[in-house]
Amino acid sequence: MRISLSGMPFWLSFFRRIPRPPGRKAYVVGGWVRDMVMLRRPTRPEIDLAVEGDAVQWGESIAESFGVQVGRVSEFRTCKIDVLHDGVPVRIDIAPCRTDSYPVPGGMPVVTASSIHEDLYRRDFSVNAMAFPLDDPFQGSFLLMDPVGGCEDLARKELRILSPASFDDDPVRIFRLFRFQERLGFHPDLQTSRALESARLNGAFLRSSKSRLWDEIQAAIREESRCPIIFRWLLEKPWENFLPSLKMSSPRRRRVFAWDRLTTYESVFSPMGRFWKETLLLLALFYGIPRQECDRGLRLLGVPEKRAKIVRESLFPVSFGKRREKTSQPDILLNISPQMIFLNLVRGGAESLASFEKTVAEADHHPLRETSLTGRDLIKEGIDSSPEIGNLLREIRTLREQGILNSRREELDWVRARVRSRGKNP
Ligand code: CTP
Repeated sequence: MRISLSGMPFWLSFFRRIPRPPGRKAYVVGGWVRDMVMLRRPTRPEIDLAVEGDAVQWGESIAESFGVQVGRVSEFRTCKIDVLHDGVPVRIDIAPCRTDSYPVPGGMPVVTASSIHEDLYRRDFSVNAMAFPLDDPFQGSFLLMDPVGGCEDLARKELRILSPASFDDDPVRIFRLFRFQERLGFHPDLQTSRALESARLNGAFLRSSKSRLWDEIQAAIREESRCPIIFRWLLEKPWENFLPSLKMSSPRRRRVFAWDRLTTYESVFSPMGRFWKETLLLLALFYGIPRQECDRGLRLLGVPEKRAKIVRESLFPVSFGKRREKTSQPDILLNISPQMIFLNLVRGGAESLASFEKTVAEADHHPLRETSLTGRDLIKEGIDSSPEIGNLLREIRTLREQGILNSRREELDWVRARVRSRGKNP
């Protein structure tokens, strides 16, 4: 199957800027390929590249072509690069093609260099194990490589693991499964359901790498269907033995819903950024559970200490007389800290949540769900000529339709990058 990028000038010019690694075969892999095959468009400005050779060396030449530096290099010689293409921030992840084995389930893999073929077989689900070879010169289209039958599974809307030990080896995949189930509306096939059940029963996820678990929680928060994903998490077996008070309950479900609704209020929660969105979710989850279990849960989920400290201090305040530490975040709404606003709202029940929503909506004319930026927002950003505002809004709409921008936050970042680059090149 050949997939054309015609009608996607952004990605056409993007791939023209990617230098090919001399003498090595290189590929686009992962979710970008899945979305192109399934929807004929990518859904986010993130792309995974793989090379049969040194990924860091290739990363350096890609970074040079965009005038940036290579970001973090991992112990497996993978690297990340954040570039700006046409004013849009794009995250590029580059990895060497490899196979991996897990001597200790859930532990660090032992990695060996391989061909793309073997590399695709080590991946989580068949729909994520397809690749587009990067031709040199770039022809404007990609020929699909699909050795494991990902395309057929896309058509069947199935999530299929590629090895029976997949979840035991890398338990974070259990949560990736929930995320893709909700996002794509897919279901696991029989073999995957069985492997999932067995990994759940043997508590695989308790052995998972904590930092990767936390990365996965952050990924879940970024999803549109974040509530159902989180509810699936709460139904996980380990809670029953390990943290019995954290299992799913109606009040907990209501608090997570409240968190979901409230954090869509751009004017209140968005300026506080990701940090508070995550912290408030932890408050919604851990509210009402005993201190010891809260501590264990925060550790189990790999919550970074700064957030864990705020959660502990908010839920179990130190005795008065002792001065509370001030956070560096700007306080909002009458100088009360975000976690206190949130806790007061969820404690106050449905009525106080409703009145909060009404007040904010009336004050700011912000609808409940996220909308695109308006001309007024652009004027606030210091853009004053009207034809330019119209042009920017049209561009934003196109980038939204192409799935390159997916939230007001991303739109704002894009506008700010545009304004900055215009300042440099008047
Ligand atoms: N992958 C894997 N096992 C994991 C994580 C990732 O096999 N535990 C592989 C999959 O092939 C995946 C690719 O690495 O497609 C890239 O991972 P990531 O960028 O985390 O996710 P995407 O599948 O690209 O999904 P998204 O649309 O959320 O970016």
